[in-house]
Amino acid sequence: MITPDTIERIMDATRIEEVIGEFVTLKKRGVNLIGLCPFHNEKTPSFNVSASKGIYKCFGCGKGGNVVSFLMEHEHYTYPEALRFLAKKYNIEIEEERPTPEQQEAMDEKESLFNLSAFAQKYFEQQLHESEEGKSVGLTYLKERGFSTEVIRKFGIGYCPNKWDEFSQTALKQGYKKDYLLKASLSKSKDHMLYDTFRGRVIFPIHNLSGRVLGFGARIMTSEKNRPKYINSAESEIYHKSKALYGVFFAKSPMASHDNCYLVEGYTDVIALHQAGIHNVIATSGTALTTDQIKLIRRYTSNVTLLFDGDPAGVKAAFRGVDMILEEGLNVRIVLFPDAEDPDSYARKNRPAVVREFIEKQAKDFISLKTGLLLDETRNDPIKKAQLIKEIARTIALIPEPIARTIYVQKCSEMMQVEEKLMVAEVNRLRRQKHQRQKQTTVQEQPPPPPGPDHVYQQEKHAGAENNDSQEKELIRLLLHYAGHEMVFELENEDRRIEEVKVMVVEFIIQDILTDKLVFDNAQCQGIFDAYTEKWEEKALPGNTFFTEHEDPLIRQLAIDLLANQHTLSKNWEHRHRIYVTGEEEDLKPRVLYAVYGFKLKKLEKMISETQRQIRDAAAENPPDESLLLELMEKSRDLLSRRRLFAAELNRVVTK
Ligand code: CTP
Ligand code: MN
Repeated sequence: MITPDTIERIMDATRIEEVIGEFVTLKKRGVNLIGLCPFHNEKTPSFNVSASKGIYKCFGCGKGGNVVSFLMEHEHYTYPEALRFLAKKYNIEIEEERPTPEQQEAMDEKESLFNLSAFAQKYFEQQLHESEEGKSVGLTYLKERGFSTEVIRKFGIGYCPNKWDEFSQTALKQGYKKDYLLKASLSKSKDHMLYDTFRGRVIFPIHNLSGRVLGFGARIMTSEKNRPKYINSAESEIYHKSKALYGVFFAKSPMASHDNCYLVEGYTDVIALHQAGIHNVIATSGTALTTDQIKLIRRYTSNVTLLFDGDPAGVKAAFRGVDMILEEGLNVRIVLFPDAEDPDSYARKNRPAVVREFIEKQAKDFISLKTGLLLDETRNDPIKKAQLIKEIARTIALIPEPIARTIYVQKCSEMMQVEEKLMVAEVNRLRRQKHQRQKQTTVQEQPPPPPGPDHVYQQEKHAGAENNDSQEKELIRLLLHYAGHEMVFELENEDRRIEEVKVMVVEFIIQDILTDKLVFDNAQCQGIFDAYTEKWEEKALPGNTFFTEHEDPLIRQLAIDLLANQHTLSKNWEHRHRIYVTGEEEDLKPRVLYAVYGFKLKKLEKMISETQRQIRDAAAENPPDESLLLELMEKSRDLLSRRRLFAAELNRVVTK
């Protein structure tokens, strides 16, 4: 473990422009450096490096981050690898921390399991290629399946002899402990005797991101019906099924360079596609897709193509995957194989070029697929058609990004021939429901009603219009840039004398928003706001890199965007409200006030229209609930007067 102290020294010594300069030719442009972006093809430079902020940002493709994320992205280093690279460059001696006894024990166990797995993998591989049984049973089988020696070697496939305990005994003789053999599910114990879990099976090693073996999948060689076809390693200190992805070690670079990832069901699909020249492919092997796995994929690409067989089970699995992937904010397409073929069997029957073409041509977005699959059934049946539309709306409502939602809504209304308005209304209704549910399960006393009425959604569609999102982001941008700056307020004290009071930007914003118990619609904005609030309770501020190195990639991205765009976001704003300033810092106070009041006003307006909608609904009931109506009208009056107040304050700020 690299000590935090060492990390600090590395980061202190590191000059982002020098590091990136090793990979990209940078030229000075104003306070920044600029060059051709290494992450996408371009002819005019839009890749910016800010030495003072320690970040880079490409205004062409949107990639951005700090020096460590640059190395991780560009060189595909892990976090410690990136640190070691920097330490070497700047001649900093790495101090490794001596862990506590408990940490040591956990580490020892992990390391021992890794070592044992590496040993087992080598043993099985050797058995496959060199032993008589391995060759005649295992290798023959793999060859018959059509796997080439090259690909068998690449994936480190092996064979475990069909003898009771040959592997276990060899491992014990080599000094590997019985305890670890059991924990790694390589051996099982019966009457104090060890026997080999995977005996008589072909073995597929499962690697982690850096290529170390975590576990195994083992396929039976006989056609016995009463024994499982595959036995997979159980969960262990090093193997977490929900986080592992089969093939990710081989696929990570191709995934990044193709900006796409093919997701298949099993070991054999991954290997067969590799052999067909498709390398950006990974599998969940045996388990349903998890959010952790999607997050792992997102480190390399935000585009996923699901490859499933076209039988009902495959279709169902595909749709479940679609919902999860969309919900994580990634793009998804689907390829269904015909006649219960899976990618492996299809690749066995067709030439590589045909496989590649098929996958490219067949990839469909989920709406086309759903409508395509069900259109015949629904064409003359209005009830089924309505169900299908609702079903698609449910999936669209999961997508976090408003623009992507809008595009899908348009596409669906076009394909299903329904009015876009209706789709929008349905999607918004579902999102409201979801927010309401979330609020109920998290904080009880959350006053602002869920994201607003339909017109809010419609508004988001007008490009360039100042929507709620940019208002929320402006507030967060001010926090990120100026949290520690002071604003001076003039207050009248008891003796009617004017006194100057200094308030930090962070304090002002937090207090104002917390007092009114307002929440952000944008989850990342809320995340950053919460972090400030938490730190501020200890009278501290999050450090420079707190957000740019945040573990949530969406928060990281937003922080970097907002730190990089000093002015652009508020250009529109300035123009519309005729505020022209030279430097933000000199004019910080009105800006902060403007952002806070503007934010509140928007929220209030949403609350007002929501309340008015509730009033209409309540009035339409027969008979109407009088006391509820009165209560709502009272609430509405209160909101309206608060709005007047804010509007006046806002006006003062602007006209001052
Ligand atoms: N799989 C699994 N556990 C099982 C069955 C399947 O993990 N009990 C995974 C494996 O990763 C396998 C993939 O699902 O590669 C596809 O399953 P299947 O086609 O049944 O396995 P194959 O080995 O291809 O068998 P067959 O030759 O019968 O097609
Ligand atoms: Mn198969």
